Amino acid sequence: MTNPRKTLGSSTLEVGRIGLGCMGMSEFYGGARDEAACIKVLHAAVELGVTHFDTADMYGVGHNEELIAKAFADRWGKVTVATKFGVQRGPGGEWLGICGRPEYVKEACEKSLKRLGVETIDLYYQHRPDPNVPLEDSVGAMKELVAAGKVRFIGLSECTAEQLRAAHAVHPITALQSEYSLWTRNVEDGILGTCRELGISLVAYSPLGRGFLTGGIPNREALDEHDWRRSNPRFSEDALAQNARFVELLQELAARKKATQAQVALAWVLAQGEDIFVIPGTRRIERLRENLGAGSVELTAEELAEIRSRLPKETAGARY
Ligand SMILES: NC(=O)c1ccc[n+]([C@@H]2O[C@H](COP(=O)([O-])OP(=O)(O)OC[C@H]3O[C@@H](n4cnc5c(N)ncnc54)[C@H](OP(=O)(O)O)[C@@H]3O)[C@@H](O)[C@H]2O)c1
Repeated sequence: MTNPRKTLGSSTLEVGRIGLGCMGMSEFYGGARDEAACIKVLHAAVELGVTHFDTADMYGVGHNEELIAKAFADRWGKVTVATKFGVQRGPGGEWLGICGRPEYVKEACEKSLKRLGVETIDLYYQHRPDPNVPLEDSVGAMKELVAAGKVRFIGLSECTAEQLRAAHAVHPITALQSEYSLWTRNVEDGILGTCRELGISLVAYSPLGRGFLTGGIPNREALDEHDWRRSNPRFSEDALAQNARFVELLQELAARKKATQAQVALAWVLAQGEDIFVIPGTRRIERLRENLGAGSVELTAEELAEIRSRLPKETAGARY
């Protein structure tokens, strides 16, 4: 299993290029929560050499950070944990909007520190820019958190190239977290180039297309009735049928490479540049192992060119 470590952006955080996204352990992706099983996955990940774990204050309305605190209480020295602020939710999970006001940024950070049970957050992302607050103000507050020793490095998620540039002028940005996978390649239209120009790493979220690219979600019946994806346009019956072409291409490549579809999907993202990291999410140890195996799947230049030429032109259904 190869998971070479690379430095995130110009920070001193050296992490494996394959990390673990923890969101689904608390909510969104069907089925009842199983804390004990998820803690086993988190422990197995550390044993398998995973060093990069991704969470956010809004995942499970604090539950995900608390889960990580429970799992890593005696392992903090071995892991890099990234968390995020900015998507406000009420106690019952209701959506309250995006907030990037400086005082809110600091309050949210205090709450995350408390839930995680740490004094410093390794990588703190603004989850979404607040359209009503200049980004420079939010990032200015994050810069103060760095100066106060509460945050080591800062990142942004799903912003524009202009916003990334403006933020980087206030304080060095270590990572941009955006969706990137075979069926979501929008970052290639501009922001990836800006990341490279500024020396910012791209952390690719939902690199398995929220599970779709693994071939495990051929239709809506495969999703639990409470699964958030049932309300996502890409998981409508019509979109799933149209997007099946992605899965067919992956199936063919997986057979040829003697790998699994998930591994080829991840290997493709990793092959887009050494400055790209992936954080696939899973609640199962066998899938964690499988996903880590993507590090050993090498796609040749010819295969990469072939994949691009055969990719469906459009992905049916909006991302959100
Ligand atoms: N910044 C943002 O706005 C944002 C948005 C979304 C996500 N994220 C982060 O990115 C992480 C990853 O994204 P994601 O969880 O949305 O999507 P993903 O990693 O593309 O896919 C996760 C889904 O795939 C399934 N899966 C994982 N490995 C598999 C395998 N080998 N075979 C078959 N199925 C497999 C998982 O099911 P099981 O869990 O049942 O294995 C889960 O349903 C999240 O955990 C979160 O930390 C960030």
